[in-house]
Amino acid sequence: MRHVVDTAGSIWLFGYGSLIWLQGFPYREARRAYIRGWERRFWQGSHDHRGVQDDPGRVVTLIEADDAHCHGRAFLVDANVFEQLDQREINGYRREQVEIHFDEDRAMGITYLAPIENFAFLGDAPVDEMVEQINRCSGRSGRNADYVLELARALRALDASDPRVFELESRIIGARNGCKA
Ligand code: SIN
Repeated sequence: MRHVVDTAGSIWLFGYGSLIWLQGFPYREARRAYIRGWERRFWQGSHDHRGVQDDPGRVVTLIEADDAHCHGRAFLVDANVFEQLDQREINGYRREQVEIHFDEDRAMGITYLAPIENFAFLGDAPVDEMVEQINRCSGRSGRNADYVLELARALRALDASDPRVFELESRIIGARNGCKA
């Protein structure tokens, strides 16, 4: 496997949540990618984009897990993009260096993760509670439920699977159609 180092001053950014489908920043190239040793979990509170101060929504973060793979999308960006992204990901996220794997090669890059000690961290909850919270909440970027549906759609478009995301998606759609949440 080739280890890509020459990105001509640009940096790879790995997105595993809203960054997959909603950029709003310039990039030179985008590729399907994954990282190893991390799982995507709906364990982070959102007091801004998908919830409000008194009623935070649930969005994704990365949790370390042996043998796990987290699929997403990597963007080759200029360094100044991170100033903009630091504002967008201000609710508990920090930059973390990760090894990003592509279909053919790999590169070091940056991802935004919300560590368990951050003020907005919610942690695990029974799926019923997560679905209820996600269906209830919305914030300045829209409904929390749409975050889940967009993420599921974007993962399918990448031909990537994440059973947790797909389960939440089907429970949200079920609740919309009048089934038990
Ligand atoms: C990401 O998309 O990579 C970070 C989490 C989010 O903004 O949803």
